Amino acid sequence: MLHDPNRIYIFDTTLRDGEQVPGCQLTTSEKIEIALRLEALGVDVIEAGFPVSSPGDFQSVVELSKAVTEPIICALTRANKNDIDVAADSLKYAKRPRIHTGIGASDMHIKYKFNSTREAILERGVEAVKYAKQFVEDIEFYAEDAGRADDAYLAQMVEAVIAAGATVVNIPDTNGYCLPDQYGAKIKYLMDHVSNIDKAIISVHCHNDLGLATANTIAGIQNGARQAECTINGIGERAGNTSLEEVAMILRTHQTLNKHTNINSKHFYELSGMVSRMMRMPVQPNKAIVGKNAFAHSSGIHQDGVLKHRENYEIINPEDVGIDQSAIILTARSGRHALKHHLERLGYVIDKINLDDVYDRFLTVADKKKEIRDDDLLSLMSDATERNYKEGVTVKLLQVMCGDPLIPTSMIKLDVNGTLHEAVSSGNGPVDATIKAINSILDKEISIKEFHIDAIEGGSDDVSKVNMRIQYLDKRYNGYGFSTDIVQASAKAYLDAVNKFI
Ligand code: KIV
Ligand code: ZN
Repeated sequence: MLHDPNRIYIFDTTLRDGEQVPGCQLTTSEKIEIALRLEALGVDVIEAGFPVSSPGDFQSVVELSKAVTEPIICALTRANKNDIDVAADSLKYAKRPRIHTGIGASDMHIKYKFNSTREAILERGVEAVKYAKQFVEDIEFYAEDAGRADDAYLAQMVEAVIAAGATVVNIPDTNGYCLPDQYGAKIKYLMDHVSNIDKAIISVHCHNDLGLATANTIAGIQNGARQAECTINGIGERAGNTSLEEVAMILRTHQTLNKHTNINSKHFYELSGMVSRMMRMPVQPNKAIVGKNAFAHSSGIHQDGVLKHRENYEIINPEDVGIDQSAIILTARSGRHALKHHLERLGYVIDKINLDDVYDRFLTVADKKKEIRDDDLLSLMSDATERNYKEGVTVKLLQVMCGDPLIPTSMIKLDVNGTLHEAVSSGNGPVDATIKAINSILDKEISIKEFHIDAIEGGSDDVSKVNMRIQYLDKRYNGYGFSTDIVQASAKAYLDAVNKFI
């Protein structure tokens, strides 16, 4: 790795620490799909699995090693020869292999997990690094439960494993125990007390048991750590690991930290959805960066503020993380500004609309429904009457005659910018007759490009929804109409589109 003191290496463990969560197991081909996206995202290291744990995990590390080109492929082991032999074998096709070996460093683990002593455990750690070094050059050592380990002992262990050949030393807060200032101080202590610290990279690996994983990771980075171990969506054991997207966006947002990564954040949203779907682990809606609501504004005050100037209520541009734009969710708490924004987005010319009237009716619907969607707005606007339009074309009267043996004929009265016009036309059906009658009044070269009729419920008393796409000059306009009468719904859809340009 190049020596840039401000470059933070991103070590992704979605496929190891993340995948060991019950119910999140992936097939090898799913792992490869995710690994290739992680590569495109720009992660520096992919922890591909714990090869000794199962033949499937072993095979996944083999296949990922073949599939991935740029990132280092890392395999986890315990501090014993068999684990290391198997890991080395699984990495044989990796272009840049790394073995991640380690052992418990807290007195709790030394006593109750290994029934051993500090000296013996340190020795085992050193032996594991030396043994692994025969197979690959790049060795990462983890001092498990370092968050609760004695700092002086931890420093001794870190110094010894670096001397034995570790290129990276991971200081995991395995149980998510530390406070950010404690964890930051632990990293600083190591930076100040390990004599050969400049020979290795210190890595942070935090769990989220107290909701502090990201805060602790940043504290570690601020105190000298140069690698951050994370997962997509913060997935991982118990309450999870540090979320990769949070770390990357914190470093990007707070330029004063003067740290940067190789991450192309535009992939976040898509990758988050992919991991969530494949691992069957939903992302909580209020999850930072990638949650469904992370860029959704619903209160009137916030909506107004965002529409005036996005940065009033957004510190990240949603496009930077792969989300098209901020979502202004229309609810009963939304103001006129938000309604206007959505109507404009749907192609309505606000100057021609009776916004107060539309807003009053919008509130009536919004009181009944939690969220107002585009279809609800289109239905509200589908009436070409003066309730919606203060200028443009509105229908004053529509009568049709049809049936066997009559020739379908339509009589229509339109108000066009304040002047009344009448027309009668026949056609090959009642809708055709009505559109012809409207056209004879408008006297414009309009052609219908698409025409869809849907029944909303399905019965003969149903409301029809008509969607028309028309062309005038070289532009196309969408219109929607709703009515229990198909002819009326079609006339409404046609005029809804016409009112967008006339
Ligand atoms: O949380 C932890 O300590 C780990 C190690 C195995 C690195 O995941
Ligand atoms: Zn972990």
